[in-house]
Amino acid sequence: MNVLVTGGAGFIGTHTCVELLKSNHSILIIDNFENSHPEAVKRVEAITGKKVNFRQGDVRDIAFIKKQITDFKCEAVMHFAGLKAVGESCQNPLKYYDYNVAGTLSLLQAMQSCNVKKLVFSSSATVYGAPKRLPIVEDTELHTTNPYGRSKLIVEDILRDLYTSDPSWHIAILRYFNPVGAHKSGLIGEDPIGIPNNLMPIVAQVASNRREKLSIWGNDYPTKDGTGIRDYIHIVDLAIGHLKALESLNVAQCNAYNLGTGNGYSVLEVIKMFEHVSNQKIEYEIASRRDGDVAECYADPLYAMQQLDWKAERGLREMCEDMWNWQIKNPTGY
Ligand code: NAD
Ligand code: UFG
Repeated sequence: MNVLVTGGAGFIGTHTCVELLKSNHSILIIDNFENSHPEAVKRVEAITGKKVNFRQGDVRDIAFIKKQITDFKCEAVMHFAGLKAVGESCQNPLKYYDYNVAGTLSLLQAMQSCNVKKLVFSSSATVYGAPKRLPIVEDTELHTTNPYGRSKLIVEDILRDLYTSDPSWHIAILRYFNPVGAHKSGLIGEDPIGIPNNLMPIVAQVASNRREKLSIWGNDYPTKDGTGIRDYIHIVDLAIGHLKALESLNVAQCNAYNLGTGNGYSVLEVIKMFEHVSNQKIEYEIASRRDGDVAECYADPLYAMQQLDWKAERGLREMCEDMWNWQIKNPTGY
């Protein structure tokens, strides 16, 4: 299939492009490099041995997107382009609604006018807010606590409205849990700009002495060791989930799927495993809770298993090993 990949130079996009190329799909990456680097595209080529079609541009530019869809004879779109930092979204909500909501609207309008109706959309477990019941199933009530989360939920609602109005759309909404790790080659991985927000990149930077220590945001949660529990998922498993979702779009639908492992690990368990695989001591301090954090969040992945024939295969050890391999091969990123 000819697949247009918006945000394809980013963390999840690059890994998904590798899987798409491995499965002989043809891809066109569109990215404005707001949070990524052109080198990432070259690394995808190095891993796959295939030339990658690429255009620098913005998803909010309808005319540009329409031209790319038409010229490339695009059959389906994977939409990763967007912003993802919860804290920044609270400081600058208009930017988040512009990129994440207006950006997706422009893309959908361009797709509609070109009669391309297959879409895989990057949503997030953040749409579940503080879950009332664990593990989280897809039909749990949705509510969010910050502008980033709301931008994802608004887009989900737009997609459901679009499908209701025109049931010939084929839409898969993927709710990611906590993507971590890197490709085995160590050529592509997460390259956060500035101080990372997420646990695993900070742990990797402390292990490699790029940072002195990390703060654990609270050890007084009602969990096994008092620290927050999350469903970490290996980025390659997540990327394969996208491939399976794309393949499921041979029938019209608008379905949401959890992409998680179903296993929860605490912050202390992640640190311990990372110390083990890197053979480095990871210094930390206990700090107060971070606003908006929940004690525990992990997926029920059954629906994705049944509908997409997909299951995460890689465990916490492999996530940490691959993250460490990427970190030592690329100590300052791309
Ligand atoms: P990323 O920042 O690494 O990748 C996003 C890419 O989109 C970047 O290459 C960026 O330059 C590009 N981009 C941003 N705005 C653009 C625009 N207007 N036009 C063109 N390109 C644009 O992030 P990621 O981790 O790969 O996330 C991909 C998607 O998944 C995002 O929509 C994000 O919100 C969502 N998501 C990520 C996580 C996570 O923890 N990584 C969790 C849930 C959902
Ligand atoms: N944590 C620390 N110290 C840090 C960073 C994180 O103790 O320096 C803890 C958090 O308190 C939490 C756990 O590590 O308990 C994981 O935190 P992350 O920031 O890595 O991930 P979150 O679960 O908070 O959020 C991530 C993405 C969101 C996405 C969500 C989906 O950042 O965009 O997963 O579940 F919405």
